Amino acid sequence: MSKKITIAIDGFSSTGKSTIAKLLAKKYNYVYVDTGAMYRAVTLFAKQNGFVDKDSLKKEALIQCLDKVTLSFCFNDELGFAEMFLNDKNVENEIRTLEVSQLVSKVAAISEVRKKLVAEQQNMGRDGGVVMDGRDIGTVVFPDADLKLFMAASADKRATRRYKELIDKGDKVSFEDILFNVQERDRIDSTRKDSPLVKADDAIEFDNSDMTIEEQFERICSLVDQKLAKS
Ligand code: DC
Repeated sequence: MSKKITIAIDGFSSTGKSTIAKLLAKKYNYVYVDTGAMYRAVTLFAKQNGFVDKDSLKKEALIQCLDKVTLSFCFNDELGFAEMFLNDKNVENEIRTLEVSQLVSKVAAISEVRKKLVAEQQNMGRDGGVVMDGRDIGTVVFPDADLKLFMAASADKRATRRYKELIDKGDKVSFEDILFNVQERDRIDSTRKDSPLVKADDAIEFDNSDMTIEEQFERICSLVDQKLAKS
């Protein structure tokens, strides 16, 4: 029997990483870990405690309280994926708002936050059989991952997808704000000092601006099958 491999999916925001990761986890019966949700949950904690808003970041105060942040995932059978819990409260919806998206890159740039979350992520994936998506999975969290994918798409396409998702959920947002947020997060995530978003040398890049989910999934499954045949 082939071993369970580790699949790392990195890339820019709203490139459909989580959609592909969830489909892969379902097909191969692997655990899916959405590391962006973890950074979002810490951001929600920081916002609720007055450590971050659009104009300020109380970095030292947040660092002092990091041991009060407990993150966990709980699989929801109906939804077919694991929801994010912050200190035992389901925050899956609250972490997806535009407001949290506008603050998360500031919080994710703090080294102490990254250190805590990377350790938790490495622990969750230590036995393999995991699909993890984020920004630094193939470079920092699992530099020896069996398969590394790097997703990209034009900012316009990504903003259009994200806008539709939020509007469908009933959020009142403008397309311009979403486009600005996508571009601003690209900028902060790619230029931060600690673990910036970069493609790992051995990652396979997918520009999915003009690809359907089905096309991507088919191609990625054949890459996974090749890896499994060799393992
Ligand atoms: O995947 P996402 O858009 O939900 O991620 C939210 C933010 O979290 C993203 O803008 C940058 C940060 N992030 C990170 O720094 N490292 C990760 N592994 C995952 C996300």
